[in-house]
Amino acid sequence: MKEQLLELEERALKEIAAVDDPAELENFRIKYLGKKGQLTSIMKNVGGLPPDERPKIGKFANLVKTNLSKRFGEAKDSLLSGKVSRDGFIDVTLPGKEPIIGHLHPITSVIKEVCQIFSRMGFRVVKGPNVELDYYNFEALNIPKDHPARDMQDTFYISDNVVLRTHTSPIQVRVMETRQPPVSVIAPGKVYRRDSDVSHTPMFHQVEGLLVDKNVSFGDLKGTLTSFVHQMFGSDTELRFRPSFFPFTEPSAEVDILCVLCGGKGCRTCSQTGWLEILGSGMVDPEVYRFVDYDADVYSGFAFGMGIERIAMLKYGIDDIQLFFKNDMRFLRQF
Ligand code: DAH
Repeated sequence: MKEQLLELEERALKEIAAVDDPAELENFRIKYLGKKGQLTSIMKNVGGLPPDERPKIGKFANLVKTNLSKRFGEAKDSLLSGKVSRDGFIDVTLPGKEPIIGHLHPITSVIKEVCQIFSRMGFRVVKGPNVELDYYNFEALNIPKDHPARDMQDTFYISDNVVLRTHTSPIQVRVMETRQPPVSVIAPGKVYRRDSDVSHTPMFHQVEGLLVDKNVSFGDLKGTLTSFVHQMFGSDTELRFRPSFFPFTEPSAEVDILCVLCGGKGCRTCSQTGWLEILGSGMVDPEVYRFVDYDADVYSGFAFGMGIERIAMLKYGIDDIQLFFKNDMRFLRQF
């Protein structure tokens, strides 16, 4: 009986491999697995075998049945899911699969937009290293040894004189070191600080700007940044230049725009001041020119740096910076 079962199994497997339409499949089921099917008939005879052979053959017959039933199930699934039948007909009425179309991350689009605005004004896009020498990140920017930004609590140190850059300003020095004026560059990139809460992440993005030539005045700085703000936030956006301090610029100014949320009345976002700070800027300090061998009596220039996440948050009304980096599709799909 075992040979009989083996022969049947082999024949049945060959047949089912060739089945390619539902009617044939049903015939197969009736022929082998149905109540009067060939396998069922053989199995009925197991009861008549001598008692010592019965369990072994019974077990074997069950294995054959399981195997054929499994193959039957698979053949059925593939016939049901297949859109193409034996004569090559494609069921065009079946609903299609909607492709998920991606788009740029909001931070990437803001970086692109900022760079485009400055490119149109003649600035050239340049890059610098993320892992930076202390010399470029601090020293040559006139940031003294005892400046709080140099503290281990604020900066990621790779070694005593290598850091993850804390701002994009070192790119200014690298550019001036290798090129003579006139220079006008814009430098986007990642920066790193040991900070993390609703308005800080350990990695964020900045865009740095630098322009050096003969006869560059604070008026040029104001005109350039005013034009930028109007292109970025709308031509009726009010802005102000507020005196400030940076070791690498003199004089220095921070630029504020009238709060986009309350229109200047004062709210939580602008800490009741009516104004939002968007960037730091100033006339390049002659001390910095000393490091790059520019003649401060001949040349003058301005520099500025802005945080991209902050600009994106204001532009899109987002109150938690961490959202940019969580990769939650529900958030990202909104842009
Ligand atoms: N590097 C400064 C920061 O990270 C921003 C900045 C201020 C850049 C003034 C400049 C500048 O180029 O002139 O806070």
